[in-house]
Amino acid sequence: MDVQWYPGHMAKAKRMMQENIKLIDVIIELVDARIPLSSKNPEIDTLAANKSRVILLNKYDMADPKHNELWKKHFEDKGYYVALVNSKNGQGVKQIKDIVYKACEEKIERNRRRGIINRPVRAMVVGIPNVGKSTFINSFVGRASTKTGNRPGVTKGKQWIRLSNKIELLDTPGILWPKFQDPAAGMRLAFIGSINDNIIQMTELAMELILFLKKHYPESISRRYDIETPEIMEELVDTVTVLDQIAIKRSCLLKGGEPDLDRAALILLDDFRNVRLGNITLEFSQE
Ligand code: G4P
Repeated sequence: MDVQWYPGHMAKAKRMMQENIKLIDVIIELVDARIPLSSKNPEIDTLAANKSRVILLNKYDMADPKHNELWKKHFEDKGYYVALVNSKNGQGVKQIKDIVYKACEEKIERNRRRGIINRPVRAMVVGIPNVGKSTFINSFVGRASTKTGNRPGVTKGKQWIRLSNKIELLDTPGILWPKFQDPAAGMRLAFIGSINDNIIQMTELAMELILFLKKHYPESISRRYDIETPEIMEELVDTVTVLDQIAIKRSCLLKGGEPDLDRAALILLDDFRNVRLGNITLEFSQE
């Protein structure tokens, strides 16, 4: 995410959301399956009051399969329609039309009783930057769709994509702002690379990631870096020692032969972000 968020950005994003949300029946909200809460916008529930809701756990291919199922159930228990999606290769995308339609059934029925029939439900994709909105829209829309253009009663300039005779999608996604106020959420967003790296102390971030991995995925590091002594990942070993080992294993040494922790930190974060440490979920639904 290249944009830095200032109060002005947030206010603008909110205004756009408020304006667009009036036009739609159902919100397709993308969250990152690795951090389903930290990538969720805190105000969406207020903004989306009275709308049908679908939550997509996007990038589920990068997250831990066990936790994907737990998160799906977590949101279903809260009354959302939920699906696991890999927008990049299209897995899980095909079923979304049915899910969206199902989420709107009540509304369609209400319309029918009022004599409004054959009116497509209108949907909009929303999510924080980098969660995969554009990738999802491309995959969802595919080729079998037509733009409907401006029509009377629709705010000028809005483009609707007709997905079937039952569903229309607003062609531009709603951009939500992430949870900046919560430091733990901020850190998780930084782990997955959704916060501009230039404003983060990367070595400290890598140490925080090691702390988490030691607790929940201890084998991920020893396996990736061929560290023969798995004890290195035990709770009592400090995180600098682990980073030291990564530096040594990757021949990141400073002039005097000392391990170069800053380079090792970048390697670790890059490996994590590219799923080379395995499928890892960073927050758990029972927490
Ligand atoms: P945005 O509109 O919400 O800002 O996100 P965008 O679609 O630009 O996606 C951000 C990045 O996430 C892209 O990677 C995209 O390919 C990737 N992505 C989106 N959905 C998925 C998914 O379900 N699984 C995986 N593995 N990746 C996904 P990028 O690094 O910016 O580009 P590229 O490497 O794909 O070229």
